[in-house]
Amino acid sequence: MARPIIILLVYLIQLCSFSSSSDDQLHEGSSLSVDTKGDVLTSSDGTFSAGFHPVGQNAFSFAIWFNKPSCSGNCTVVWMANRDYPVNGRHSKLTLTKHGNLILTDAGRITVWATDTVSHLSPAHLKLYDSGNLVLHDSTGTTLWQSFDSPTDTLLPLQQLRKHGKLVSSRSRNNFSSGFFNLYFDSDNVLSLLYKGPEVSSIYWPSPWLLRWEVGRSSNNNSRIAELDLLGKFTSTDNYTIKSADYGSRIHRRLTIDFDGNVRLYSLNEREDKWVVSWQAYPRSCKIHGTCGPNSVCSSSPKHGRKCSCIPGYRMKNHTDWSFGCKPEFDLSCNGVEAGFISLRHTEFYGYEYAIYTNYTVEMCKKLCLEQCNCKGFQFRFHKSHQPYSTYCYLKSELRNGYHEPFFDASIYLKLPKTKLSLSYELVRDYSLECSVQVEQLTRTYHERKENEPFKLFLGFLSKNTVLWSTCAIGGIEFLVIFLVWFFLNRTQHESDQMGSYRLIAATGFRKFSYAELDKATNGFRKEIGKGAGGIVYKGKLSDDRIAAIKRLIDANHGEAEFLAEVNTIGKLNHMNLIDLWGYCVEGKHKLLVYEYMEHGSLAENLSSKTLDWGKRFQIALGTAKGLAYLHEECLEWILHCDIKPQNILIDSNYQPKVSDFGLSWLLNRGDVKNSKISRLRGTRGYMAPEWVFNMPITSKVDVYSYGIVLLELVTGRSHSQGIEGEKTLIKWVKETTDATEKWMEMIIDPMLEGQYDTTEISILITVALRCVEEDKDARPTMGEVVLMLLQLEEKH
Ligand SMILES: *[C@@H]1O[C@H](CO)[C@@H](O)[C@H](O)[C@H]1NC(C)=O
Ligand SMILES: *[C@@H]1O[C@H](CO)[C@@H](O)[C@H](O)[C@H]1NC(C)=O
Ligand SMILES: *[C@@H]1O[C@H](CO)[C@@H](O)[C@H](O)[C@H]1NC(C)=O
Ligand SMILES: *[C@@H]1O[C@H](CO)[C@@H](O)[C@H](O)[C@H]1NC(C)=O
Ligand SMILES: *[C@@H]1O[C@H](CO)[C@@H](O)[C@H](O)[C@H]1NC(C)=O
Ligand SMILES: *[C@@H]1O[C@H](CO)[C@@H](O)[C@H](O)[C@H]1NC(C)=O
Repeated sequence: MARPIIILLVYLIQLCSFSSSSDDQLHEGSSLSVDTKGDVLTSSDGTFSAGFHPVGQNAFSFAIWFNKPSCSGNCTVVWMANRDYPVNGRHSKLTLTKHGNLILTDAGRITVWATDTVSHLSPAHLKLYDSGNLVLHDSTGTTLWQSFDSPTDTLLPLQQLRKHGKLVSSRSRNNFSSGFFNLYFDSDNVLSLLYKGPEVSSIYWPSPWLLRWEVGRSSNNNSRIAELDLLGKFTSTDNYTIKSADYGSRIHRRLTIDFDGNVRLYSLNEREDKWVVSWQAYPRSCKIHGTCGPNSVCSSSPKHGRKCSCIPGYRMKNHTDWSFGCKPEFDLSCNGVEAGFISLRHTEFYGYEYAIYTNYTVEMCKKLCLEQCNCKGFQFRFHKSHQPYSTYCYLKSELRNGYHEPFFDASIYLKLPKTKLSLSYELVRDYSLECSVQVEQLTRTYHERKENEPFKLFLGFLSKNTVLWSTCAIGGIEFLVIFLVWFFLNRTQHESDQMGSYRLIAATGFRKFSYAELDKATNGFRKEIGKGAGGIVYKGKLSDDRIAAIKRLIDANHGEAEFLAEVNTIGKLNHMNLIDLWGYCVEGKHKLLVYEYMEHGSLAENLSSKTLDWGKRFQIALGTAKGLAYLHEECLEWILHCDIKPQNILIDSNYQPKVSDFGLSWLLNRGDVKNSKISRLRGTRGYMAPEWVFNMPITSKVDVYSYGIVLLELVTGRSHSQGIEGEKTLIKWVKETTDATEKWMEMIIDPMLEGQYDTTEISILITVALRCVEEDKDARPTMGEVVLMLLQLEEKH
């Protein structure tokens, strides 16, 4: 039924469009000129335009761009004819010649680009379609050339990336010329990302150290085609498939390889008039090769994006462009005696090893490296997964692809002249310089149900084509009737699609709520479920039926803009062991945060009931440590929690812990934490580190201390506040018991466990806990180190 109608519809549209000359076409012998503003082709629904787009001072490229978000001379370009050869801002033009060649000439003379097509028999015309495809047809309808066949850095829905095609990034945010990153099918049929710099090149996606099948790719299909469909699914013949976060709705999307080397799928949020990222290839963009150039280290944080910094003894080569990296400030003569080493922990320089030695000690590696002129340093790694344990020493001839990541368990040793060894260098904090690349973080927005697409199309059609309309009015009435039938036939299908995406986005949305909405959700703030730092928590049901924990802040005494900035940063934190922030509300004096709700409640509640066996307790200890380590280090933001306690550790349905209330100390008292000068006492008695009491600098080690107390409670099942044998604190009691007797474990362990536990795990956990609660903050491990200690334990099983 629907098919003949569509065919008729297409026929009618064709019929009408031949009888009018509209601005989506260019005919033989005519041209578009750079001098005339508004000399552009615009697709019939107004989505795309093709014309001259400024790319620099008095420099233009012939391009296709989105007309939304509304822009002028600053649009989202999806294709360019001459990205590397811009033309003059005067007398340049694009001409469709008499015999069907489309040529772009600079200042009226030099041809900088051409399609090299001919159409002897019938006149050709160029047409910009609603899909964003610019097509050169002859009048028989044969396609002579189309822009979809030669993508630049963007794929539009239904545009195929094929065997010999590639997407090439722009040079920088403002420079559209070809950059260093390519998305293409490699010779093994696998869709890959390649860094192709001026000196070196390497593939960085899929991860080069993994085998293709390990990342789910197949090399068998050599047709090599990748395509984004209309609903937001991207598929490639190497068996790679992804779906956008808003899959299902028919909205405008584009897949772009950005100038920073990451591939992102963008969706147009028409309500906010901006593009949002709905998928990206690399969550940790520091692993993209070539990010910071040679001899520098990349690190990333949710607030500042990626940052580059030179390794000690080196300085930036070109102050406007990190891709040149850093150059040595010294001339290392090849006399080994004058050199020594600086080590950077948790830092990797990928590739460029010219030799690998197994089972060498660090001293032996140093000696080797000193003896060899081309050795710039070495990566020292201890592979726990390789049995029996072996060490590996990778001697490097070049220091490229450097990145710092707290969980990367290896160090790099850099060879430097002895005179430079005294450099005090704190890798993690010393990121004063920022990468030229800085990309807006993945933000997810909330979509309302969209208007019905065909109807909108129809309205657009009506308004755009009034002339055309009158010329085929009779056909039009028929068309209208048929269209309405078609529209109602399709309606049911559409709505179910959209509901699907609605739910999906809802599940990942971070957004602003109105006070009225939250008032309604909580039934007038009736059901109080907790009281915590700075506010009261209520249970509520959002309009989409999600159950939320809504926190009303009492003491948020700073401006709205500041609040928004902070909340946005917290909203971007994303870790399985941190509670999800769904949104916020700020209206006048009302400031609220909306979190996911945890059915299983807090660790405090679970500890007092019999629900936690040893396995679960260990997972909670590990997960909590991971969440905190992420807050402290991975983000480089130094978000201190300052109030770790069992009440703030929530338990999900799989008994995975989720830390809540993070970022609050910061939200409630901005600036103080950053400067390590907290004047007011924070936290909860019993969990607070001695620094608070003695007015000493507050560092991430305050959280380590509180975490140590939580560990002790997990093992013993006792609360720090319960008096133990009189006035003793929990710490003192555990310490004394472990020192006093061989059978300490039986004495301190939670009797609720009824003997079901792993003695090795307990003894390590107690050791870790006691180290965490050392009086001296420097004697405590970092959260990252705690995670590593616990992970090693987990691996042994
Ligand atoms: C863009 O980058 C290229 C390559 O680095 C350079 O040659 C060109 O001058 C730059 N264009 C602009 C407008 O900065
Ligand atoms: C171009 O757009 C960006 C981001 O949308 C904006 O920051 C910038 O100011 C705009 N530039 C011009 C010249 O309009
Ligand atoms: C493609 O992936 C699916 C699941 O993602 C898997 O079942 C199938 O075996 C894969 N095909 C090939 C050829 O690897
Ligand atoms: C390769 O992929 C295409 C498109 O998915 C498919 O039609 C074709 O059958 C595949 N060929 C092989 C040999 O698997
Ligand atoms: C730095 O890079 C820019 C852009 O690539 C270039 O125009 C400039 O000449 C370079 N400066 C130096 C000092 O090399
Ligand atoms: C490294 O040393 C360990 C212990 O001495 C030994 O068992 C292992 O086989 C060695 N590894 C290699 C790769 O030689």
